Amino acid sequence: MRTPIPDYLDEILDALRDDDSGSVADYIPALKAANPDLFAVALTTVAGRTYSSGDCDVEFSIQSMSKPFAYAAALADRGEPFVTSRVGVDPSGEAFNELSLETGSHRPRNPMINAGAITTHHLLVGSGTSRQIRVERAREFFSELAGRPLRIDERIVESELEAADRNLAIAHMLRNYGIIEDDPHEVVAGYTAQCSISVTVRDIAMMTATLANGGIHPVTGTTVVARPIARRTLSVMASAGMYDAAGSWFTDVGIPAKSGVAGGLLGALPGQVGIGTLSPRLDDHGNSVRGQRVFRRLSADMGLHLM
Ligand code: DON
Repeated sequence: MRTPIPDYLDEILDALRDDDSGSVADYIPALKAANPDLFAVALTTVAGRTYSSGDCDVEFSIQSMSKPFAYAAALADRGEPFVTSRVGVDPSGEAFNELSLETGSHRPRNPMINAGAITTHHLLVGSGTSRQIRVERAREFFSELAGRPLRIDERIVESELEAADRNLAIAHMLRNYGIIEDDPHEVVAGYTAQCSISVTVRDIAMMTATLANGGIHPVTGTTVVARPIARRTLSVMASAGMYDAAGSWFTDVGIPAKSGVAGGLLGALPGQVGIGTLSPRLDDHGNSVRGQRVFRRLSADMGLHLM
């Protein structure tokens, strides 16, 4: 006997399965090899129930969906004033891999673009910390949110570092401006490892449900981050999580969200639910095509638009 929600999730995937528009990310060699047809969705309610459909146990790299969680960890580790002195909270209106620094302060405009995320990764734990300690902080924090030990896919790290000129260039500029202090190569290697943490859509839904639940884990009841941190993280997702498409996304769908180039998409509805989808083909902004369509359906059918 199936319950209505999984049936409904199966129906959404079936209705959208044939859309093969967009293409898998090709600037990271290991992602080019991904199966483009993978398709999955999971929802975790703030009461801790998870519903899922499709390839919901397939692991893939978290990529830019790591950015909100690393931002939350940096806020917890270093405090909001210090983090804000290094990275802003305004939309950049530019692609995720542009430098997008504010004039004057030279802060990256927000923690969702690469420049801002390289900065927040560098802020983890404390000043002068090693790459290993920062990466372990990210892995342990994400594992606590997911409720199971997550691992780093070293194959993805290696592959991405072979072609990391752009992130290295960004990190060198950040150090030139005094936004980061450490060796740019070490910082980019650590940030890349953070992006290569393997997750399933069920992990993503669970991790996001904690943010939706004001920082309290929906299953363990543990306060993983303080409420103001969860609120700040979701607010930045709302204004910048979908990069230069953030405005049209929020207008249409109304769910704070964050995409990743491996094809993941997460969304949080405060007080209600965390959502994760996987579908590797991306649009020109680097956002999953079918993932966005799943969110549009959920938003319309269940009246999830926040406004
Ligand atoms: O730094 C990068 O380019 C990748 N590790 C992550 C980028 C990403 O996921 C962009 N999102 N859609």
